[in-house]
Amino acid sequence: MRVTRGLAGASLLIALAVTGCGTGGYSSGGDVSRGAVLFTKKCASCHTLAAAGAKGKYPGAPNLDDAFVADKQQGIADSTILQVVHEQIQYPSPPMPANLVKGSDAEAVAAFVAKCAARKQDCSGLVSGPPPGSGPGGKLFASLGCQGCHTLDGSPSTGPTFKALFGSTVKLSNGKTVKADMAYLIESIVDPDKQIVQGYKPGIMSASIKPHSVSQANAKALVEFIKKQG
Ligand code: HEC
Ligand code: HEC
Repeated sequence: MRVTRGLAGASLLIALAVTGCGTGGYSSGGDVSRGAVLFTKKCASCHTLAAAGAKGKYPGAPNLDDAFVADKQQGIADSTILQVVHEQIQYPSPPMPANLVKGSDAEAVAAFVAKCAARKQDCSGLVSGPPPGSGPGGKLFASLGCQGCHTLDGSPSTGPTFKALFGSTVKLSNGKTVKADMAYLIESIVDPDKQIVQGYKPGIMSASIKPHSVSQANAKALVEFIKKQG
Protein backbone atom coordinates (compact mmCIF):
# COMPACT_ATOMS: atom_id res chain seq x y z
CA MET A 1 0.00 0.00 0.00
CA ARG A 2 1.08 3.53 -0.61
CA VAL A 3 1.23 5.52 2.53
CA THR A 4 2.67 8.78 3.85
CA ARG A 5 6.08 8.90 5.35
CA GLY A 6 4.70 8.21 8.80
CA LEU A 7 3.48 4.88 7.51
CA ALA A 8 6.64 3.92 5.63
CA GLY A 9 7.00 0.16 5.34
CA ALA A 10 9.81 -0.46 7.82
CA SER A 11 8.31 1.55 10.59
CA LEU A 12 4.95 -0.09 10.04
CA LEU A 13 6.51 -3.50 10.62
CA ILE A 14 8.07 -2.33 13.85
CA ALA A 15 4.75 -0.87 14.86
CA LEU A 16 3.02 -4.18 14.31
CA ALA A 17 5.76 -6.03 16.17
CA VAL A 18 5.76 -3.80 19.24
CA THR A 19 2.08 -3.31 19.66
CA GLY A 20 1.16 -6.81 18.57
CA CYS A 21 -2.44 -7.81 18.61
CA GLY A 22 -5.15 -6.77 20.96
CA THR A 23 -5.87 -3.33 19.55
CA GLY A 24 -9.53 -4.07 20.17
CA GLY A 25 -9.77 -2.03 23.33
CA TYR A 26 -7.83 0.96 22.07
CA SER A 27 -10.34 3.04 20.25
CA SER A 28 -13.31 3.16 22.58
CA GLY A 29 -15.02 6.53 22.75
CA GLY A 30 -13.73 7.21 26.23
CA ASP A 31 -10.15 6.64 25.21
CA VAL A 32 -10.52 8.99 22.29
CA SER A 33 -11.76 11.86 24.43
CA ARG A 34 -9.10 11.24 27.07
CA GLY A 35 -6.54 11.10 24.26
CA ALA A 36 -7.77 14.45 23.00
CA VAL A 37 -7.17 16.07 26.37
CA LEU A 38 -3.72 14.45 26.70
CA PHE A 39 -2.90 15.58 23.18
CA THR A 40 -3.61 19.21 24.07
CA LYS A 41 -1.29 18.88 27.07
CA LYS A 42 1.58 16.88 25.56
CA CYS A 43 1.59 17.32 21.80
CA ALA A 44 -0.24 20.52 20.86
CA SER A 45 2.71 22.76 21.63
CA CYS A 46 4.55 21.30 18.62
CA HIS A 47 1.90 19.88 16.26
CA THR A 48 -1.08 21.32 14.41
CA LEU A 49 -4.24 19.18 14.58
CA ALA A 50 -7.57 20.89 14.03
CA ALA A 51 -9.76 18.53 16.11
CA ALA A 52 -7.66 19.37 19.18
CA GLY A 53 -7.57 23.08 18.38
CA ALA A 54 -3.79 22.59 18.23
CA LYS A 55 -1.76 25.10 16.27
CA GLY A 56 1.81 24.10 17.17
CA LYS A 57 4.46 24.80 14.57
CA TYR A 58 7.65 23.40 16.04
CA PRO A 59 10.34 23.34 13.36
CA GLY A 60 10.09 20.02 11.53
CA ALA A 61 6.97 18.84 13.38
CA PRO A 62 4.43 17.78 10.73
CA ASN A 63 0.90 19.13 10.68
CA LEU A 64 -0.87 15.92 11.71
CA ASP A 65 -4.01 16.61 9.65
CA ASP A 66 -1.82 16.85 6.55
CA ALA A 67 0.28 13.84 7.63
CA PHE A 68 -2.68 11.44 7.62
CA VAL A 69 -5.12 12.91 5.11
CA ALA A 70 -3.84 10.79 2.22
CA ASP A 71 -4.01 7.57 4.26
CA LYS A 72 -7.58 8.30 5.26
CA GLN A 73 -8.57 9.08 1.68
CA GLN A 74 -7.10 5.74 0.65
CA GLY A 75 -9.15 3.99 3.29
CA ILE A 76 -6.24 2.92 5.51
CA ALA A 77 -7.84 1.60 8.70
CA ASP A 78 -7.79 3.71 11.84
CA SER A 79 -6.29 0.72 13.66
CA THR A 80 -3.25 0.84 11.34
CA ILE A 81 -2.80 4.58 11.85
CA LEU A 82 -3.21 4.04 15.59
CA GLN A 83 -0.30 1.60 15.61
CA VAL A 84 1.90 3.97 13.64
CA VAL A 85 1.20 6.89 15.97
CA HIS A 86 1.76 4.64 18.99
CA GLU A 87 5.12 3.62 17.57
CA GLN A 88 5.98 7.26 16.87
CA ILE A 89 5.28 8.10 20.52
CA GLN A 90 7.60 5.31 21.66
CA TYR A 91 10.34 5.65 19.05
CA PRO A 92 10.34 9.16 17.56
CA SER A 93 13.33 10.75 15.88
CA PRO A 94 14.77 13.78 17.66
CA PRO A 95 13.75 16.47 18.39
CA MET A 96 10.42 14.83 19.29
CA PRO A 97 10.88 13.46 22.81
CA ALA A 98 10.20 9.73 23.38
CA ASN A 99 7.45 8.45 25.68
CA LEU A 100 5.73 11.76 26.37
CA VAL A 101 2.77 9.58 27.27
CA LYS A 102 2.94 5.92 28.29
CA GLY A 103 0.81 2.82 28.58
CA SER A 104 -2.91 3.38 28.24
CA ASP A 105 -2.32 7.13 27.90
CA ALA A 106 -0.18 6.54 24.81
CA GLU A 107 -2.89 4.27 23.41
CA ALA A 108 -5.53 6.92 24.09
CA VAL A 109 -3.51 9.64 22.33
CA ALA A 110 -2.86 7.33 19.38
CA ALA A 111 -6.58 6.44 19.21
CA PHE A 112 -7.44 10.13 19.20
CA VAL A 113 -4.99 11.00 16.41
CA ALA A 114 -6.10 7.96 14.37
CA LYS A 115 -9.76 8.88 14.63
CA CYS A 116 -9.56 12.67 14.45
CA ALA A 117 -6.59 13.67 12.25
CA ALA A 118 -7.96 15.22 9.05
CA ARG A 119 -11.47 14.53 10.35
CA LYS A 120 -12.35 17.41 12.61
CA GLN A 121 -16.01 17.10 11.63
CA ASP A 122 -16.31 13.66 13.29
CA CYS A 123 -14.62 14.78 16.48
CA SER A 124 -16.33 17.99 17.53
CA GLY A 125 -16.70 18.71 21.21
CA LEU A 126 -13.73 16.65 22.37
CA VAL A 127 -11.56 19.56 23.36
CA SER A 128 -13.12 22.40 21.45
CA GLY A 129 -14.39 24.09 24.56
CA PRO A 130 -17.51 23.93 26.67
CA PRO A 131 -20.86 22.76 25.35
CA PRO A 132 -22.78 25.86 24.21
CA GLY A 133 -24.98 27.53 26.81
CA SER A 134 -23.51 25.48 29.65
CA GLY A 135 -22.55 28.42 31.87
CA PRO A 136 -19.56 28.71 34.21
CA GLY A 137 -19.73 25.01 35.17
CA GLY A 138 -19.49 23.98 31.52
CA LYS A 139 -16.41 26.15 31.06
CA LEU A 140 -14.78 24.51 34.09
CA PHE A 141 -15.77 21.07 32.79
CA ALA A 142 -13.75 21.81 29.65
CA SER A 143 -10.87 23.80 31.11
CA LEU A 144 -10.18 21.47 34.07
CA GLY A 145 -10.14 18.43 31.80
CA CYS A 146 -13.18 16.68 33.34
CA GLN A 147 -14.32 15.87 29.83
CA GLY A 148 -11.26 13.68 29.40
CA CYS A 149 -12.85 11.14 31.75
CA HIS A 150 -16.58 11.93 31.97
CA THR A 151 -19.09 11.91 29.12
CA LEU A 152 -22.39 13.77 28.93
CA ASP A 153 -24.19 11.33 26.64
CA GLY A 154 -24.19 8.20 28.77
CA SER A 155 -21.30 6.50 27.00
CA PRO A 156 -18.66 4.82 29.14
CA SER A 157 -15.31 6.46 29.80
CA THR A 158 -12.63 6.38 32.47
CA GLY A 159 -15.16 7.72 34.98
CA PRO A 160 -18.96 7.49 35.27
CA THR A 161 -21.06 9.50 32.81
CA PHE A 162 -22.72 12.71 34.01
CA LYS A 163 -25.90 11.90 32.13
CA ALA A 164 -28.78 11.50 34.60
CA LEU A 165 -26.29 11.46 37.48
CA PHE A 166 -27.84 14.23 39.57
CA GLY A 167 -30.47 12.83 41.94
CA SER A 168 -29.68 9.22 41.04
CA THR A 169 -28.71 6.52 43.53
CA VAL A 170 -25.00 5.71 43.35
CA LYS A 171 -23.54 2.42 44.53
CA LEU A 172 -20.23 2.84 46.29
CA SER A 173 -17.31 0.42 46.43
CA ASN A 174 -17.90 -0.11 50.17
CA GLY A 175 -21.30 -1.61 49.33
CA LYS A 176 -23.30 1.39 50.56
CA THR A 177 -25.53 3.53 48.40
CA VAL A 178 -25.76 7.29 48.38
CA LYS A 179 -28.01 9.82 46.70
CA ALA A 180 -26.17 11.97 44.17
CA ASP A 181 -27.25 15.25 45.69
CA MET A 182 -25.41 18.58 45.82
CA ALA A 183 -23.38 17.64 48.92
CA TYR A 184 -22.26 14.23 47.62
CA LEU A 185 -21.31 15.57 44.20
CA ILE A 186 -19.39 18.54 45.60
CA GLU A 187 -17.46 16.16 47.83
CA SER A 188 -16.74 13.84 44.87
CA ILE A 189 -15.08 16.76 43.10
CA VAL A 190 -13.29 18.39 46.04
CA ASP A 191 -12.08 15.14 47.59
CA PRO A 192 -12.19 12.54 44.79
CA ASP A 193 -10.91 9.55 46.76
CA LYS A 194 -13.17 9.99 49.79
CA GLN A 195 -15.95 7.81 48.34
CA ILE A 196 -15.44 5.56 45.34
CA VAL A 197 -18.15 4.57 42.91
CA GLN A 198 -18.57 0.80 42.61
CA GLY A 199 -16.66 -0.65 39.67
CA TYR A 200 -14.04 2.13 39.65
CA LYS A 201 -10.67 2.45 41.30
CA PRO A 202 -9.42 5.12 43.68
CA GLY A 203 -6.47 7.25 42.61
CA ILE A 204 -7.54 7.71 38.98
CA MET A 205 -9.44 10.97 39.26
CA SER A 206 -7.21 12.26 42.07
CA ALA A 207 -4.14 11.74 39.87
CA SER A 208 -5.24 14.69 37.76
CA ILE A 209 -7.68 16.47 40.08
CA LYS A 210 -5.72 16.75 43.32
CA PRO A 211 -7.79 16.71 46.53
CA HIS A 212 -8.95 20.24 47.41
CA SER A 213 -7.58 21.71 44.18
CA VAL A 214 -11.10 22.64 43.06
CA SER A 215 -12.69 25.33 45.25
CA GLN A 216 -16.13 24.82 46.83
CA ALA A 217 -17.51 27.58 44.60
CA ASN A 218 -16.16 25.98 41.43
CA ALA A 219 -17.33 22.55 42.55
CA LYS A 220 -20.82 23.98 43.06
CA ALA A 221 -20.77 25.48 39.55
CA LEU A 222 -19.71 22.10 38.18
CA VAL A 223 -22.57 20.38 39.99
CA GLU A 224 -25.01 22.95 38.55
CA PHE A 225 -23.66 21.89 35.17
CA ILE A 226 -24.03 18.18 36.03
CA LYS A 227 -27.63 18.89 37.11
CA LYS A 228 -28.41 20.13 33.58
CA GLN A 229 -27.36 16.77 32.09
CA GLY A 230 -30.73 15.22 32.87
C1 HEC B 1 9.08 19.11 20.93
C2 HEC B 1 8.11 19.06 19.85
C3 HEC B 1 7.24 17.82 19.70
C4 HEC B 1 6.35 17.29 20.60
C5 HEC B 1 6.04 17.77 22.01
C6 HEC B 1 5.70 16.20 19.92
N1 HEC B 1 6.21 16.04 18.66
FE1 HEC B 1 5.57 14.69 17.27
N2 HEC B 1 7.06 15.30 16.00
C7 HEC B 1 7.93 16.34 16.26
C8 HEC B 1 8.90 16.40 15.17
C9 HEC B 1 10.04 17.41 15.05
C10 HEC B 1 8.56 15.37 14.26
C11 HEC B 1 9.30 14.97 12.97
C12 HEC B 1 10.43 14.02 13.33
C13 HEC B 1 9.97 12.62 13.39
O1 HEC B 1 9.28 12.16 12.47
O2 HEC B 1 10.26 11.91 14.38
C14 HEC B 1 7.38 14.70 14.81
C15 HEC B 1 6.70 13.66 14.19
C16 HEC B 1 5.50 13.12 14.64
C17 HEC B 1 4.70 12.16 13.91
C18 HEC B 1 5.00 11.57 12.55
C19 HEC B 1 4.22 12.31 11.49
C20 HEC B 1 4.64 11.85 10.10
O3 HEC B 1 4.29 12.54 9.15
O4 HEC B 1 5.34 10.85 10.01
C21 HEC B 1 3.62 11.86 14.70
C22 HEC B 1 2.49 10.89 14.37
C23 HEC B 1 3.77 12.64 15.92
N3 HEC B 1 4.91 13.39 15.85
C24 HEC B 1 2.88 12.58 16.97
C25 HEC B 1 3.09 13.22 18.19
C26 HEC B 1 2.26 13.01 19.35
C27 HEC B 1 1.05 12.09 19.41
C28 HEC B 1 2.79 13.80 20.35
C29 HEC B 1 2.33 13.90 21.80
C30 HEC B 1 2.40 12.66 22.55
C31 HEC B 1 3.93 14.51 19.79
N4 HEC B 1 4.08 14.13 18.49
C32 HEC B 1 4.70 15.43 20.49
C33 HEC B 1 7.93 17.18 17.35
C34 HEC B 1 7.16 17.01 18.49
C1 HEC C 1 -8.40 11.09 35.01
C2 HEC C 1 -9.82 10.83 34.96
C3 HEC C 1 -10.77 11.78 35.68
C4 HEC C 1 -10.81 13.15 35.59
C5 HEC C 1 -9.87 14.07 34.84
C6 HEC C 1 -11.95 13.56 36.36
N1 HEC C 1 -12.58 12.47 36.88
FE1 HEC C 1 -14.27 12.47 38.02
N2 HEC C 1 -14.10 10.47 38.27
C7 HEC C 1 -13.18 9.65 37.68
C8 HEC C 1 -13.36 8.28 38.14
C9 HEC C 1 -12.52 7.08 37.73
C10 HEC C 1 -14.45 8.32 39.02
C11 HEC C 1 -15.04 7.11 39.76
C12 HEC C 1 -14.24 6.81 41.01
C13 HEC C 1 -14.57 7.76 42.10
O1 HEC C 1 -15.68 7.69 42.65
O2 HEC C 1 -13.72 8.61 42.45
C14 HEC C 1 -14.90 9.71 39.08
C15 HEC C 1 -15.98 10.15 39.84
C16 HEC C 1 -16.53 11.42 39.75
C17 HEC C 1 -17.77 11.82 40.35
C18 HEC C 1 -18.73 10.92 41.09
C19 HEC C 1 -19.62 10.28 40.02
C20 HEC C 1 -20.64 9.33 40.50
O3 HEC C 1 -21.20 8.58 39.63
O4 HEC C 1 -20.93 9.25 41.69
C21 HEC C 1 -17.96 13.14 40.03
C22 HEC C 1 -19.13 14.03 40.41
C23 HEC C 1 -16.81 13.56 39.26
N3 HEC C 1 -15.95 12.48 39.11
C24 HEC C 1 -16.62 14.83 38.77
C25 HEC C 1 -15.49 15.25 38.10
C26 HEC C 1 -15.24 16.62 37.71
C27 HEC C 1 -16.20 17.78 37.93
C28 HEC C 1 -14.02 16.65 37.10
C29 HEC C 1 -13.25 17.86 36.59
C30 HEC C 1 -12.97 18.89 37.61
C31 HEC C 1 -13.53 15.28 37.09
N4 HEC C 1 -14.44 14.48 37.70
C32 HEC C 1 -12.33 14.88 36.52
C33 HEC C 1 -12.20 10.05 36.80
C34 HEC C 1 -11.89 11.36 36.49
